Amino acid sequence: MDRRRFLAVGASTLATTALVPATAEAAAGTDTASADAGAAGASPATAASTGGGTDDALRTLASRINLRIGTAVIPFDLDTPDYAQVMAEQFSVVTPGNEMKWGVVEPEQDVFDWSGADRLVAFAAQHGQLVRGHTLLWHNQLPTWLTDGVADGTITGGQLADLLKAHIFTEVGRFRGRIWQWDVANEFFQDANPSGINPNDFWISHLGPDIIPQAFRWAHQADPHALLFYNDYNIAGEDGTNAKSDAVYAWLKQMRGQGVPIHGVGNQGHLDTQYGFPTQMTQDLQRYAALGLKVAITEADVRTFVDGPDTQVPTDHLATFAHPYEYSQMLKAALAVPECISFTVWGFGDADSWVPGTFKGEGYANIYDVNLQPKAAYFDLQRDLQLAASGAPRRVHT
Ligand code: G3I
Repeated sequence: MDRRRFLAVGASTLATTALVPATAEAAAGTDTASADAGAAGASPATAASTGGGTDDALRTLASRINLRIGTAVIPFDLDTPDYAQVMAEQFSVVTPGNEMKWGVVEPEQDVFDWSGADRLVAFAAQHGQLVRGHTLLWHNQLPTWLTDGVADGTITGGQLADLLKAHIFTEVGRFRGRIWQWDVANEFFQDANPSGINPNDFWISHLGPDIIPQAFRWAHQADPHALLFYNDYNIAGEDGTNAKSDAVYAWLKQMRGQGVPIHGVGNQGHLDTQYGFPTQMTQDLQRYAALGLKVAITEADVRTFVDGPDTQVPTDHLATFAHPYEYSQMLKAALAVPECISFTVWGFGDADSWVPGTFKGEGYANIYDVNLQPKAAYFDLQRDLQLAASGAPRRVHT
């Protein structure tokens, strides 16, 4: 198996790494200097392997306007020195791609495996990076003991709510003070026009829609200082109609009005060159911010059709222009909104991407190629961040 095919595998086979607490400044997300010190502490990069030295690394350039640049990561990739070097030098936020999901952290009831999550949190602390926790309430990657128990009736609705509460308190409590942003709830809205909360979602069908605000309240009790996010895809105009954004916006407004502790909204940012760049993105991010919310791009990638999963060469040479263009446009949308505090890519090397395994015939989604060489999209992001230092508004963190 290609060792970096999915953002995923291997957490259970890793030895647990001792935790190194993040600094209070880093946890507050305001000390970009400490983040850059972390980058400088990594071994020097070669321009060929990483796209540049530490002075023009993405995280360093973004720090000038207090923006954080993140990536999703697979723990065992850290065993590859080149990979760990890029991760340390280029990024100031880490998102565990899978290692904080319920199915990974509690594969059997009351049997916990924190090895992958611990390793990533420790790496982040060692390199002055913040952590996006992902994700507490989602229909996917749940433990089979939980879904089987619900299906066969041995777990009742009341017990399911109790188990969820315990899960949130256990996980958020374990990493209390070390998670900058938590994706509390993930992907609850329908891909439809009009959109709305999916009544057939696992959690909604068993516990009703009030379980979402309840999850935010529990997470807030467990770590009052973490920023709590609602995270979803196609909520910045990617659906063409803006219907999903409209529904999420209306719901967030209602939740804010009810005093639910939701602090931010994450647009995942999974784009595809065949659909073009969503022209509503800036306005959609702005109107979320106008509700008093932080905003983040949480899982950016741009897929296109390729020759095969191993090489991932675009079959249409024009895609090699569309790909960096869409990354650049997405970053510019983020830069235009001061409340947008982080821009995270869903893995940086194409060998890691979830895309070839999910979208038949597609790939080339990330900013480094299958050989970990920076692509045009990397250099466009670098240029945009360089220019942003003298034009884009500084990020508002409080
Ligand atoms: O753990 C098993 C392993 O035991 C088995 O050998 C292997 C065989 O394929 O599968 C492994 O499970 C895989 C898991 O990742 C961990 O590697 C699943 O097949 C695979 O489907 C799963 O994919 C993850 C996907 O979420 C699940 O929906 C991706 O790595 C992960 O990047 C992706 O991330 C999601 C975000 O959480 C939410 N937004 C969308 C994003 C992309 O789908």
